[in-house]
Amino acid sequence: MKVHGFLKDVTGASRVTKARRDRIAHGDPNNIYYDPILATAQELHPDVTHVVVKEVREASPTARTFVFAADKGDVLPPFQCGQYVSLDLQIGETITTRPYSISSAPYEARTGAEPFFAITVRNGRPDSGFAANWLYENVKAGDTFTAHLPYGQFYWEPLRDSRNIVALAGGSGITPFCSMAKEIAHGTMDADLTILYGSVSSSDIILQKELEAIQCDRVRFINVISGNEEWDGEKGFLTAELIKKYSGEDPTYFVCGPLPMYNFVRGELDRLGVPARHIRMEVFGAPRNIQEADGWPKDTEARTVQLTVIRGQQKDVIEANVLEPIAVALERAGIKNRTRCRSGACGYCRCRLIEGNVFVPSVGDGRRWADKKFGWYHACSTYPLTDCTVQIPIL
Ligand SMILES: Cc1cc2nc3c(=O)[nH]c(=O)nc-3n(C[C@H](O)[C@H](O)[C@H](O)COP(=O)(O)OP(=O)(O)OC[C@H]3O[C@@H](n4cnc5c(N)ncnc54)[C@H](O)[C@@H]3O)c2cc1C
Ligand code: FES
Repeated sequence: MKVHGFLKDVTGASRVTKARRDRIAHGDPNNIYYDPILATAQELHPDVTHVVVKEVREASPTARTFVFAADKGDVLPPFQCGQYVSLDLQIGETITTRPYSISSAPYEARTGAEPFFAITVRNGRPDSGFAANWLYENVKAGDTFTAHLPYGQFYWEPLRDSRNIVALAGGSGITPFCSMAKEIAHGTMDADLTILYGSVSSSDIILQKELEAIQCDRVRFINVISGNEEWDGEKGFLTAELIKKYSGEDPTYFVCGPLPMYNFVRGELDRLGVPARHIRMEVFGAPRNIQEADGWPKDTEARTVQLTVIRGQQKDVIEANVLEPIAVALERAGIKNRTRCRSGACGYCRCRLIEGNVFVPSVGDGRRWADKKFGWYHACSTYPLTDCTVQIPIL
């Protein structure tokens, strides 16, 4: 049938095709395609940034700060206080990543003769720690890494959040607030910050000297010690009463620390009647003990199951422990799989479950509705309960 009138090419496809042919016929064969939007996006969010360790320094008796500069001609991308870097690590046979909040300020990565960013790693659990322990014991100045940054939504947004920030921190959760404190003290972040930092003992306080040095009229740093020791300052936990005492007017609360602290602090904020829109919580990684997660099938103990991994035409059968996420099984087998937050939130580690039963803890289930419907899972927060078959991207 012949179509007449303007309807015959309602989408203008024939004009596009002609314009394309003309461009090809008259184009410069040496012309390199340049897309300014793509170039800006790559500058702000490069897939990979090569970095070199410039300095390692003590941040407490159990924590070290690693200072990184750009390497191989790369440039450090801009980031916001509270965002994290994901480091690629090769530890023995294992290829893995770990997220670390950036503890230095954004201005330090933008200005000065040697722009840098820093992370501060706690090695508090030498018995169970894996990557933290390795970083702590092995990394020295001159070592090189590939890093991915910036990631995460745990940052202050003036259109949404109050200028009065109350930070509730525990353990290594102090690091994003060190970044905020420095940026505020430098005058490049227009907010007031009160940090309530809970530690078991005074020797656990991370970045104490740095934080005390940058206290000013806009940054307050209050240590709260829960253990049994002589301590002149605040003692106990981050209770509703203590939070109220330091909150001031109309604050936004930023919470960062280990899971038990989150649960406790969340309860205390509820007691104060703080609405959810005034609370920002950082993600906290995989649960230390998945058997304690709500809904974990009773009496399911550590055991090995078979994981069939499909990547394109390739099929590998590897072992997996039911108490470890699928992402860890892949890493132990040396199979590359992209991870960033390792908390079930970002979706970078998506895989498709083809066969088998799995468990996803409710706190680590950041999947979209469509992912759930069509059998996609976040490998970092999915535990294989039976033999399983999964499909992952080819990297
Ligand atoms: C957004 C975010 C920011 C963070 N920021 C900081 C920070 O600023 N400072 C900080 O100290 N921490 C931070 N963390 C925590 C950090 O990412 C690590 O989890 C922490 O350093 C502990 O690492 P780990 O490997 O020792 O233990 P985990 O991360 O708990 O890893 C242990 C896992 O490794 C697996 N494993 C053990 N042995 C092996 C092996 N041989 N091969 C493969 N897998 C194995 C175990 O099964 C277990 O699943 C942050 C976490 C998140 C999510
Ligand atoms: S790495 Fe972010 S969801 Fe798995």
